[in-house]
Amino acid sequence: MALMHNFKIENGSVTYMSKFLQSESYTENKRANRIVVSEFGTLAMPDPCQSMYDRFMSKFKLTSTDNCSVNYVLYKGDYYVSTETNFMRRVAPETLDTLEKVDWTKFIAVNSATAHPHYDPDGTVYNMGNSFGKEGTRYNIIRVPPQKSSAGETLEGAQVVCSIEPAEKIKLAYYHSFGMSENYVVFVEQPVKINLLKLFLCRIQGKALLNSISWDPELNTVFHVINKHTGKKHSATFHTKAFATFHQINAFEDQGCIVLDLCCMDDGGALDLFNLPNLRKSGKELNEFRKQVAKSYPRRFVLPLDSGIKDVATQPLSYSSATAAMKGDGKIWCTYENLYDHTLGSSGFEFPQINYAKYNGKKYRYFYGCGFQDIIGDSLVKMDVETKQAKIWKEDGYFPSEPIFVPYPDIVGEDDGVILSAVITPDQNKNIFLLILDAKDFTELARAEVPVEIPYGFHGVFVPQRT
Ligand SMILES: [Fe+2]
Repeated sequence: MALMHNFKIENGSVTYMSKFLQSESYTENKRANRIVVSEFGTLAMPDPCQSMYDRFMSKFKLTSTDNCSVNYVLYKGDYYVSTETNFMRRVAPETLDTLEKVDWTKFIAVNSATAHPHYDPDGTVYNMGNSFGKEGTRYNIIRVPPQKSSAGETLEGAQVVCSIEPAEKIKLAYYHSFGMSENYVVFVEQPVKINLLKLFLCRIQGKALLNSISWDPELNTVFHVINKHTGKKHSATFHTKAFATFHQINAFEDQGCIVLDLCCMDDGGALDLFNLPNLRKSGKELNEFRKQVAKSYPRRFVLPLDSGIKDVATQPLSYSSATAAMKGDGKIWCTYENLYDHTLGSSGFEFPQINYAKYNGKKYRYFYGCGFQDIIGDSLVKMDVETKQAKIWKEDGYFPSEPIFVPYPDIVGEDDGVILSAVITPDQNKNIFLLILDAKDFTELARAEVPVEIPYGFHGVFVPQRT
């Protein structure tokens, strides 16, 4: 269940608290004293208190969870926690109190939304979600206005900017995030596919939703480019060899091209390896599991928006080795530039972050993330896209969370700021801690130890104190 954490930095000291999200899923599970609401990888058995008839009928009900355990997101100045269903919960970041449940379907014709929206400098929010309507299934780009027009508003004024038809009618690509430059949204249609027929049958057959997902590497990965102001889809689609992705790093426009940086895995079939029996392995068995888990690496694609590229792979931008070429099939085929520093050895890279406020959608130089020598992140990495040099923070036996970049108030340079990360350890004789690094040279500025155990998490946010 979603457990929210809060490190409060004030007057030179740090305090810590955590609270479970008081979601309806949490309340129902707690009342039954076991899991009775299904999650992405967990099939809940029907509540034994239900009648035979209710238990039978519950197999046909498509319910979704409000156990929002993925990310903190911001709409119209309010903080919400989000997962990838149609529900979000508004929360008070200062107290971690759970506030109202918000249902996307009450505002707009979408059945889900990602936990990774993008923000324009004025606070306008863009997100993506699927719809299952009369006209069929669609991927939708959503826009939410930056401000409330009256108190108590949540998602009022949300609009669908563009709907994209999937390549296959009954198979939707799974996507966890998308790219956004100043004027465009880039949607990656990857061959990690959700089979809709299997999805609807899962409950009847007594399987978790995860069983409807497949890796179809014989298909390509496709980039769709959409003008975020007009909603018009660019006439060309850009294709590349199959890869799977969770997180985009940044996207920007340069010399008539879109540069898209993202974390890519060559094997998208490893998703279902992260089940409890595997995670509970130890010793030799754990080592075998480690070998099976696909690693993710940062890569750059360059998508030329002007037509006229020839049937020869060219480098649209002189500073990137990424190529694009129009082939006989009328499609533009792309290859990537590796943004990875080979001195990192076999370590994978995920949970990318940048100086978002100043550089999202803009040409930039630095990104930060977790290095993955292990199944979960075991180092913090700063990458320089120009020199391909990496800076690393690592301590044996410790596992740092996604690094959050916080700029200094009087920021001058792109990396003038600090990195925040919650570092955990399974060693019960050691404390977990909030780590603060100088973002420029990656040296430790401070750590605040906390004598509690906290689990590994996904994403975090820095909330400036409201004055
Ligand atoms: Fe994520």
